Amino acid sequence: MMLILLIVAVISTIYGRQIYRNEIPNGYGVPNMCYGTDGGQVWAPVGHYSPTNYTQDKNPFGKDFAAANHTWTHSLCIKDSDGDGKTNGDELGDPHCRWSKGGDAPAHNATGHPGICEPLGSNVCSNQAFFCGCHGHECVLSP
Ligand SMILES: *[C@@H]1O[C@H](CO)[C@@H](O)[C@H](O)[C@H]1NC(C)=O
Ligand SMILES: *[C@@H]1O[C@H](CO)[C@@H](O)[C@H](O)[C@H]1NC(C)=O
Ligand SMILES: *[C@@H]1O[C@H](CO)[C@@H](O)[C@H](O)[C@H]1NC(C)=O
Repeated sequence: MMLILLIVAVISTIYGRQIYRNEIPNGYGVPNMCYGTDGGQVWAPVGHYSPTNYTQDKNPFGKDFAAANHTWTHSLCIKDSDGDGKTNGDELGDPHCRWSKGGDAPAHNATGHPGICEPLGSNVCSNQAFFCGCHGHECVLSP
């Protein structure tokens, strides 16, 4: 019985995080820079330091999104969470902060990641202690 409750809790936690992708513009189209911006791979847990793992630590965008009660507010849109010189709205394809859930599609496709400073390894990202490393077939961020 406890095991079933635990499994239900884990599944609903993960599902709860996945549906956060509906709360931001292009939540299903954030590029995974580990494959290159045109690599065709997306970063699913946008607020976390892993392209696949929803329980990895939150990245700066994930922290700001949580602080905004998991909603796409104007102040979240104009913020540059990852400090790479582009606002969250610029990176997620909503540069004028017009997108709202259930409304029109975002103006553009996502051009970058709002929570990971890009380009990785550049001077502007020198405070970021993460980089892509490849483990088997999957590229992930490693400390
Ligand atoms: C996901 O991240 C958590 C927290 O770092 C870790 O404990 C877990 O092992 C990771 N899961 C996988 C499948 O790598
Ligand atoms: C988030 O929700 C809390 C509790 O309802 C509220 O006090 C706070 O002002 C909200 N924050 C934002 C950014 O909307
Ligand atoms: C986004 O990218 C897709 C696939 O490359 C393309 O078909 C679509 O027109 C783009 N959307 C916008 C708004 O640029």
